[in-house]
Amino acid sequence: MKTVRFGIIGCGLMGREFASAAARWCHLPDMPARPQIVALCDQDPGALGWYRDNFPTVTQVTQDYRAILANPAVDAVYIALPHNLHREVYCAAIEAGKHLLGEKPFGMTLPDCQAIVAAAQARPELLVRCSSQSIFFPAMQRICGMIERNEFGQVIELRTGFLHSSDLDPNKPINWKRRVEINGEYGVMGDLGAHACHVAFRAGWVPRNVRAILSDIVKERPDGKGGRVPCRTWDNATLLCETGATGADTFPWTVRVQRIAPGQRNNWYTEICGTRASARWTSARADLLEVLEYTGGEQAWSQVQTGHETAFKSITAPIFQFGFSDAILQMWAAFLHELAAGRPLTRFAACLTPEEALLSHRLFTAALKSQEHSAVVSV
Ligand SMILES: NC(=O)c1ccc[n+]([C@@H]2O[C@H](COP(=O)([O-])OP(=O)(O)OC[C@H]3O[C@@H](n4cnc5c(N)ncnc54)[C@H](O)[C@@H]3O)[C@@H](O)[C@H]2O)c1
Repeated sequence: MKTVRFGIIGCGLMGREFASAAARWCHLPDMPARPQIVALCDQDPGALGWYRDNFPTVTQVTQDYRAILANPAVDAVYIALPHNLHREVYCAAIEAGKHLLGEKPFGMTLPDCQAIVAAAQARPELLVRCSSQSIFFPAMQRICGMIERNEFGQVIELRTGFLHSSDLDPNKPINWKRRVEINGEYGVMGDLGAHACHVAFRAGWVPRNVRAILSDIVKERPDGKGGRVPCRTWDNATLLCETGATGADTFPWTVRVQRIAPGQRNNWYTEICGTRASARWTSARADLLEVLEYTGGEQAWSQVQTGHETAFKSITAPIFQFGFSDAILQMWAAFLHELAAGRPLTRFAACLTPEEALLSHRLFTAALKSQEHSAVVSV
């Protein structure tokens, strides 16, 4: 099995998720490649203790990402930094010849994303992908199979979203994800939006235009030092798009990404209504896929418990439940598989491409304009 030596740049919440996935690679018995964590970069030395305790393979620890990019013993990098740093560090990584899995939104702004995509296109020998894991839930893979086999018939409507309630508490102190200068003007769309676009874009369903309603619900927050500061990021976004494959009829696609969705914890959902079949799934009940097949008779939803039927073979028995860290592991399997095999396992068992990330930026930029002018805006 080929070993790919990884550096992690940004060793916070998501850096730890990747490192943990690498540590249980033995879960995936059929992989052509394995990641090995050899280098770490974080500006906060306090972020690194957990890695030191758990990853004896690390030979480089630095506060300067350039040192990792200059290290010939690093083949690939995972970058999980605040959004204002994506453009600089992703472009530098690609120019240094490192394969890259970069966190969404893949640049803070549309021009940032365009610069990253241009850098990636200039180095086609490198694998450059954007993180997005919800497509790897078994129910989502089943829905993707239905799309692939054209089982929905004509699509009537698509609804996707990603809902949190992490910001319902107005006394939660502000952090970088609530600051426009670091998270970006997209607000919640930059944070959660790419996840809600992955399946649609991979299916070839491209938004033609959008009418967006964006909400700034909590306008100031504690600064963590006894004072209060403005919180100017959009908390919630609802986007209604006219969408369709090239040359086909359009259908409505509603995307909801919300940080203030009472009762929701970290829930992705996808609902597709078609003339021959419909399907719906939410990660709030991750094991449950609901399908309605219409052949002219009774219309009845059937319920399927999907268990652990993964795209990339796992040692976990198929009857056992699947969760967030399993989706992260499957996403990493998709990246490593594509790196080793030169192509994705399947069309839908694959990470978001830079071009798909760019399409999400075009959608979110149009959504900002739509909100500003209370108008439908072309994407
Ligand atoms: N895929 C997902 O489900 C998911 C979930 C959460 C966050 N994210 C994305 O992951 C990325 C990181 O988010 P996070 O939640 O891990 O954030 P985090 O704040 O937990 O971690 C970011 C880390 O970057 C470090 N850092 C900041 N500036 C740095 C610099 N100049 N040099 C080196 N290190 C620096 C910080 O010290 C921190 O440890 C973001 O793009 C975010 O949108 C993805």
